Amino acid sequence: MKALVAGLAGCLACCTGFMPAWAQAPSGPASASPERGRALLMERQDTGCILCHQIPGLPVGGALGPSLHGLAQRSTPAQARERIADARRFNPNTLMPAYLSVEGLHNVAARYRGQTVLTPLAVDDIVSYLFQPDTTAP
Ligand code: HEC
Repeated sequence: MKALVAGLAGCLACCTGFMPAWAQAPSGPASASPERGRALLMERQDTGCILCHQIPGLPVGGALGPSLHGLAQRSTPAQARERIADARRFNPNTLMPAYLSVEGLHNVAARYRGQTVLTPLAVDDIVSYLFQPDTTAP
């Protein structure tokens, strides 16, 4: 029995090794991680946040969108979460991609159709990074 349990644990460890950081469910109830959030914000391909935003604690950043410095002073985690989920709710003509919606998208490559860019947990990870105390200091 012990061997079987150990074998299963080894198998789980090996499977999760092939998943991108954002897809790995933490053990136990899903909880947001600012470390995963930071990694996601840095991803040029998977999120692109730094292509458009200056972000506290990250070395480089673009200027197509506003700087996210001081975000905690002008918005709440819930507002940021909604914005990341689908910025079109605030500005129908926004440049910012909708990370948790598949509504109204055009020319989506066949293999991505019906999939959101991020998972709800990944968005929570990002929000937890953006609103952690040492990130929000001016
Ligand atoms: C293609 C450019 C682009 C990308 C990529 C992008 N954004 Fe944005 N973002 C914008 C723009 C432009 C705005 C300003 C509001 C608007 O026009 O919709 C904005 C606004 C925001 C705001 C509100 C800022 C404030 O001052 O209140 C947050 C938070 C935000 N973005 C987070 C993110 C995160 C997190 C990501 C990555 C998951 C991301 N954005 C990716 C362009 C972008």
